Amino acid sequence: MSRGIAVEAYEQLVAEGYLESRPGGTTRVARAASTRSTAPRPTQPVQFEIDLRPGRPDVEAFPREAWLRSLRRTLSGAPAARLGYLDGRGIPELRLELAAYLNRVRGTVAHPDDIVVSTGFAQGIWLIATVLRADGARRFAMEDPTLGDSAFIVGTTGLQVVPIPVDEHGLRVDILSRADVAGVLVTPAHQYPTGRVLSPDRRAALLAWADRHHALVVEDDYDAEYRYDREPIGALQGLRPDRVVYAGSASKVLAPGLRLGWLVAPQDLATRLAATKKAIDQGSPAIDQLAFADFIARGELDRHLRRMRPIYRRRRDVLLAALARHLPELRPVGAAAGLHILAWLPAGLDPEAIVTVAAAAGIGIGSLAPGAAIGAVATPGTPGGLVFGYGAIAERAIDDAVRRLAEVIGGLRDSHAVAGNVEAAPEGAASLLSR
Ligand SMILES: Cc1ncc(COP(=O)(O)O)c(C=O)c1O
Repeated sequence: MSRGIAVEAYEQLVAEGYLESRPGGTTRVARAASTRSTAPRPTQPVQFEIDLRPGRPDVEAFPREAWLRSLRRTLSGAPAARLGYLDGRGIPELRLELAAYLNRVRGTVAHPDDIVVSTGFAQGIWLIATVLRADGARRFAMEDPTLGDSAFIVGTTGLQVVPIPVDEHGLRVDILSRADVAGVLVTPAHQYPTGRVLSPDRRAALLAWADRHHALVVEDDYDAEYRYDREPIGALQGLRPDRVVYAGSASKVLAPGLRLGWLVAPQDLATRLAATKKAIDQGSPAIDQLAFADFIARGELDRHLRRMRPIYRRRRDVLLAALARHLPELRPVGAAAGLHILAWLPAGLDPEAIVTVAAAAGIGIGSLAPGAAIGAVATPGTPGGLVFGYGAIAERAIDDAVRRLAEVIGGLRDSHAVAGNVEAAPEGAASLLSR
């Protein structure tokens, strides 16, 4: 190579701090450069050979072509103003599409002005809890069991999380009535993780409670689009839009990596939520919102869901059959909808121990600890459970996955010498979650 290129390369390395050169002196590798580690950081998420963890849709089936078309249309057609600083509520085109979609599919009463777009439910619940806390609220109720992440997020805002048990009819509203809380987070269409549906009586009781106590009901509608053998259950928000905040997310219907979620809130609260969202991050990425609006408007979301429902349903059926074959002592519940099944364990089997040993064998699975799920006192005798997600595993792999899990559990049993001491989970075990 020519001398000029070598000189230029040296100059560039000096400019970037990799070399040190003194006029008239030698050129050396800079001390900092020579000690700087180039080893890659372990940023990869845990990968399992068999992924039965809950909360995961099939991201392999993400409709890339359709999304790409929406992105292209968005980029070529969106007004330049959409690339400026955003309103805290989110891009108007998306709020318009979401309102129409939710009112049609979920029976909400949503106006585009009352929608706040967030980076998923995780941010949505944080926004709600933050606003409640700023208004002086101290205590906030959550279903027990519940998604641990939500409990953690609410706790970070300074609100005290008050666990309210669920039974086979959903949240125990009678216990909630005595709890002195500013609001409650519920999963009425498909309780997480037990899969129960909030019964009509309890729905009415919950709304009456909210009225009596001027409290807020937060409805986490995370997977309602997937239901297999039961009637659709409309959103609570549609009954009382002034008392209920509806929370939805693209994480199950499309992909968690999109980080797209939405809240439908009573007008004043929507304004407060939007102001908080604006203050914290100036709004979610505009191009993604515009692409999602186009995706919904073109019917692509409906098409994707129509395609995925039978696929997930078959996986659910295969999983239930595999559980009956390989792990008959487990008692699956809540399988009529969603992307996961809770299976109660027989007494004597520790779900956490199973998760640990299964992980070592390359199997990812969720667990429900015996007793309380959000840090409260455990009820003696309450069985623990395993939470099986079937969103991220191919149908053909399910039977073998459950067989291997059964081997893992068998090994654990042998090592704890609990074989022969296995009782069936008690009937109505969910009600044992009450304290
Ligand atoms: C109960 C529940 N709510 C909401 C969500 C969606 O959360 P996010 O939108 O933050 O991905 C999940 C995802 O796993 C969930 O399990």
